[in-house]
Amino acid sequence: MVQQNQKPRIFSGIQPTGRLHLGNYTGALSQWVVNQDQNDGIYCIVDLHALTALHSRTIVPIVEQVRQTAALLVACGLDPERSSIFVQSHISAHAELAWILNCLTPVGWLERMTQYKAKAAQPASATAGLLTYPVLQAADILLYRANFVPVGEDQKQHIELTAELARRFNRLFGETFVIPRPLIRTAGARIMGLDDPSIKMSKSLAEDRKSHVIGLSDPPDLIRRTIMEAVTDSGFETRFERASPGVKNLLTIFEALSQRPRPEIESHFAGKSYQVLKGEVADLVIAVLRPIRERYLNLVDDPGWLDQMLRHGAQKVSPIAISTLDQVKKLTGIERPQPGLQTIARSEGVC
Ligand code: AMP
Ligand code: TRP
Repeated sequence: MVQQNQKPRIFSGIQPTGRLHLGNYTGALSQWVVNQDQNDGIYCIVDLHALTALHSRTIVPIVEQVRQTAALLVACGLDPERSSIFVQSHISAHAELAWILNCLTPVGWLERMTQYKAKAAQPASATAGLLTYPVLQAADILLYRANFVPVGEDQKQHIELTAELARRFNRLFGETFVIPRPLIRTAGARIMGLDDPSIKMSKSLAEDRKSHVIGLSDPPDLIRRTIMEAVTDSGFETRFERASPGVKNLLTIFEALSQRPRPEIESHFAGKSYQVLKGEVADLVIAVLRPIRERYLNLVDDPGWLDQMLRHGAQKVSPIAISTLDQVKKLTGIERPQPGLQTIARSEGVC
């Protein structure tokens, strides 16, 4: 529940791996940048979650990717003065609360997660980290007592699990956590790959498949080429519910970025060829992404400013995380140690 006179708290996270893409923008980031004065927005670059790819050894220095992600978030319109942007591993309370919640999470709940099942299909990926990924996500959200979590459709199940865990903890230990609710856009919450509209547009596929994603910092000519090459069919159907998956995906991108109602979009494209549809989608995507790319190129050149902005974000939000974790430690019987306790224990030969 939102307390009277308090702004609703919004929390969300994004992994700093790979190329941020149009799906990230329509599903998540476009929701983060609206109403920054009316909401208390906290946005986290989840580098610990990104370590679930550690076993593949393809990881490039993650700090660099963290900076690029931070630059893109600001370029998309997040204002570090009105919202808080920080890095997950800079606040150790995330990993600590995740462990405590792990001890309350039935393994069966985690094995049911569709994202886990899809990724664990490759045996090398099926690590304990991948299985407990949603518990770390729950810790992210619950630490900040968030009311709403703006995400794409694929994260709905994880937010529901978070709410379930919060209810379980509250039942066992008394009202502690706020029960969070997902915020999922009606248009653009699930953008599909342009080269294969049967799979979700995803960062991890962008490396191997050239025309799969539109990157948020892609140059206009690349954006146009990728959209013009998008998979469609040999017909003329441009109504949302009857169009083939590839055409529906293009219409959805147009809907999410133009925010025009479906009937208006359908009558606009009625009887027009897919070439015309693709051309107009490309024009719109380029118009939306051009200023983002320009701001990104300026920001990414200034790692000092980015690091300082992220440090400032962590300083702003860490008191909230620490106070929640303190409360949880008291309730679960592990008091927060007094400063100096470790030193005393070591000198007495206890550790
Ligand atoms: P990730 O890229 O997995 O870190 O996701 C960051 C945010 O973007 C999450 O809220 C996702 O739900 C959202 N997202 C990722 N891929 C898509 C997509 N293809 N369409 C819409 N939203 C997406
Ligand atoms: N699992 C999310 C994704 O892959 C990222 C994430 C981590 C997140 N922690 C979060 C999203 C907390 C929302 C809230 O997209």
